Amino acid sequence: MNPKVESALNEQIQKEEYSSRLYLAMAIWCEVNGYPGSASFLYQHAEEERIHMMKLIHFVNDRGGETKLMAIDVPPSDFGSLMDVFTQIKKHEEYITESINNLYGITVEEKDYTTGNFLQWYITEQVEEESLFKTILDKIKLVGKDKAGMFHIDKELDGMTGGTGTGAESNG
Ligand code: FEO
Repeated sequence: MNPKVESALNEQIQKEEYSSRLYLAMAIWCEVNGYPGSASFLYQHAEEERIHMMKLIHFVNDRGGETKLMAIDVPPSDFGSLMDVFTQIKKHEEYITESINNLYGITVEEKDYTTGNFLQWYITEQVEEESLFKTILDKIKLVGKDKAGMFHIDKELDGMTGGTGTGAESNG
């Protein structure tokens, strides 16, 4: 495997692993702060980020490279509000999108079309995730501090899937 591409893929693996941990931290915060629906949604989303990581790991290893796990930061554990949680998620997903796009750019530079083709799934996934989190954040902004509105949003999140970990489902 092209060493430059391999190294960039390993960095992306680290980012997906951190994403999973970040959403786990957020799920924990939601669970202990009276948002069970959001907690359930985020626990599931943490699992989906893990699937994103695993897909990358298997790809690297199957293509003759080797995954090198890196240190990951401890995510924040305190969030001011549900609005804060989802604002941070949206920002984080925008950062991941940029990272995937840069990674794709490296495959083009290196003429590694196989990896570029593999990354198409992630490019589509990021469009779906950004759209999903924007929708949720817009709803939270709409209800503002209204407790009944927030209760309903939390309930709604309970029934939603957190993304397309496998690429099989749709976020709507
Ligand atoms: Fe792995 Fe939320 O993108």
